[in-house]
Amino acid sequence: MNEKYKILFDPIKIGPVTSKNRFYQVPHCTGMGWQRPNMLASMREIKAEGGWGVVNTEYCSIHPSSDDLPHSYAALWDKTDIKAHQLMTSKVHNHGALAGVELWYSGANASSQYTRLSPLDVNSRPNLKGLPFQSRKMDKQDFKDLRKWFRQAAIRAREAEFDIIYAYANHSYLLHNFQRSDINDRDDSYGGDTQGRSKFLKEVIEILKEEAGNKMAVAIRFSPDEDNQKNSNETLDFFNEVSEMPDLWDLTPSNWDIELGSSRFTDEGDNLKFINHIKKITSKPVVAVGRFTSVDAMVSIIKKKLVDIIGAARPSIADPFLPKKIEEDRLEDIRECIGCNICYTGDQLGVPIRCTQNPTMGEEWRRGWHPEVLPPKKTNDSILVIGCGPSGLEVAHALGKRNYTVIAAEEKNTTGGRVVLESKLPSLNEWIRVKDYREQQFLKLSNVEIFLNSKMYLKDILESEAEHIVFATGSKWRSDGFGRTNTHPIKELNNNINVFNPDDIMKGNLPSGEVVVFDDDYYYLAPIMSEMLQKKGCNVTYITTSSVVCEFGNYTSEQYNYQRSLINSGVKLIFSQNIISYNDKELKLSCMYSDKISTIRTNALVMITSRSPNDKLYYELVNENDKINKFKSIKRIGDCLAPATIASAIYDGRKYAMEFEDEFSENYLYKRDSNLNI
Ligand SMILES: Cc1cc2nc3c(=O)[nH]c(=O)nc-3n(C[C@H](O)[C@H](O)[C@H](O)COP(=O)(O)O)c2cc1C
Ligand code: SF4
Repeated sequence: MNEKYKILFDPIKIGPVTSKNRFYQVPHCTGMGWQRPNMLASMREIKAEGGWGVVNTEYCSIHPSSDDLPHSYAALWDKTDIKAHQLMTSKVHNHGALAGVELWYSGANASSQYTRLSPLDVNSRPNLKGLPFQSRKMDKQDFKDLRKWFRQAAIRAREAEFDIIYAYANHSYLLHNFQRSDINDRDDSYGGDTQGRSKFLKEVIEILKEEAGNKMAVAIRFSPDEDNQKNSNETLDFFNEVSEMPDLWDLTPSNWDIELGSSRFTDEGDNLKFINHIKKITSKPVVAVGRFTSVDAMVSIIKKKLVDIIGAARPSIADPFLPKKIEEDRLEDIRECIGCNICYTGDQLGVPIRCTQNPTMGEEWRRGWHPEVLPPKKTNDSILVIGCGPSGLEVAHALGKRNYTVIAAEEKNTTGGRVVLESKLPSLNEWIRVKDYREQQFLKLSNVEIFLNSKMYLKDILESEAEHIVFATGSKWRSDGFGRTNTHPIKELNNNINVFNPDDIMKGNLPSGEVVVFDDDYYYLAPIMSEMLQKKGCNVTYITTSSVVCEFGNYTSEQYNYQRSLINSGVKLIFSQNIISYNDKELKLSCMYSDKISTIRTNALVMITSRSPNDKLYYELVNENDKINKFKSIKRIGDCLAPATIASAIYDGRKYAMEFEDEFSENYLYKRDSNLNI
């Protein structure tokens, strides 16, 4: 191990337990929760195997009245849950790591759609996700019940052999709401001044401590925010009340858009600025997060005593083996998180987690994928990969690691495809890590040859001696309006020189003057390009068929930031309008709700609607009949098959590589996880 990183591997005492190092996987949900215990346990095991000293669960409900479905969460309601968690704790312990559980009671944040029990909160407040339900104001009996539920959950956590139990007092959940004077308007002993507002948290900590005994440590996830308090010292005063009570503080801002900010809006370590003022007050170890992937930065913040333990959610998802790679001095092998927040979409959509950089995330149990260990090759067959964008890079690198002979041809002078172009857009520079990681791996794979500036034609492929052909030729943006709203091209748009698409913009072919950016795509490109063009001097109007900017950003925790950013940059916003026609000067729009027609004048139109797969060469080849009999397989992957996210393209590349020559590959999807109570 490199001496300068040794400090990261110091054992850390957390109350009665000791973490073998300072790498701490903070609680993060996975879209698995109590519904998919096997998938969950196998995923957490990989983190422990990868060297994390502590591996936590996701938010873990202590009672059925705290139910967040369709967002999956862990639970400790009964014996079934104990059994499910034991799957995880035993696997985590097998690798010498500690297992932690984040005990969670929601309050008005969840509306218990599955259990249909009204959630308890400090007062009766509307559901924070916009659903037409209110919480129930806690009365004396409710306080008794909640204390009992926390105690029962702590006992179950002990039985499940957890080493750390949390009181989750952050993110606008119940225990956080007691703290906040802007929410806690109670006129009994649990409201009012700091003493009153901290009373319930103190009771909960005491209960957890009693049940933890000398077997488990008690942690608190706490919000250091000052901005939602009535006076600037309120958090400090509150913290002073409880600062020495738990064994560990996990400090992170309460606003999801900040604390799990994407790289488009936040930099590594940004969260630290929120915690300094309260870290100084406690003698207990402090863990904090900040999308940490730079090893020097980790060492520096520990040496400066800004934190004691490096907390990570996304860096541990992108590379579960991050600690081990540092320990073994293999920094070049670290798969750095790109901060895209695709991992967050799993829980938001109620499906298992996925990751752009780490395609094995979530597939540890179902498909048996491991982020570092790939099965050896079965034959000496060779594979020709055409195109080296995200899916081409991934398939070549994963097949290479299986020791197959791979020849990859890229028509451009660089690999990376769309990530090269997109990472040059404002604040998407971290995305180039997708290419960098895989190129770095090629340096160790003498069986993979990459040919740049090598456009392939039909005759080249037919002459190839490879047994298998994979098309990873990507896709191109359409300019003709075809998309989710217009199911046919808008005729006048084709060949109109004042109509642009994202490929034009990314290649530097920019419009000027009055510009309309039309967004029927609902993700990041339209808002980024609107803002970029506005900053370059255009007068931009953003028009979308949706009713918000970046609708998909609701699942990546970016929607608010994208809309705010566009407003602040001066871009004019028009919602719920579709384009009917454009004649170089006048754009005709129809309202998505009323079909009311309106017109606006614009010099240029940027259409961000949909993409066409680059599959012409594939069809030319498969139509060659007898001439292709020599090939054992011809396949398309990634955007060339079905344009989607970069994460999907990389996943497709890995899937091809893992299922290559695997006769059982079709069976994996039938392996479904389920709650153990069957
Ligand atoms: C996919 C995902 C799920 C998360 N789920 C939880 C959760 O269940 N409980 C919680 O306290 N924080 C949750 N978080 C927040 C993380 O614990 C962490 O504070 C945040 O991601 C910032 O850390 P990072 O920069 O290391 O990712 C989640 C974050 C992610 C990315
Ligand atoms: S999905 Fe993106 S943000 Fe999440 S861990 Fe992977 S690379 Fe990082």
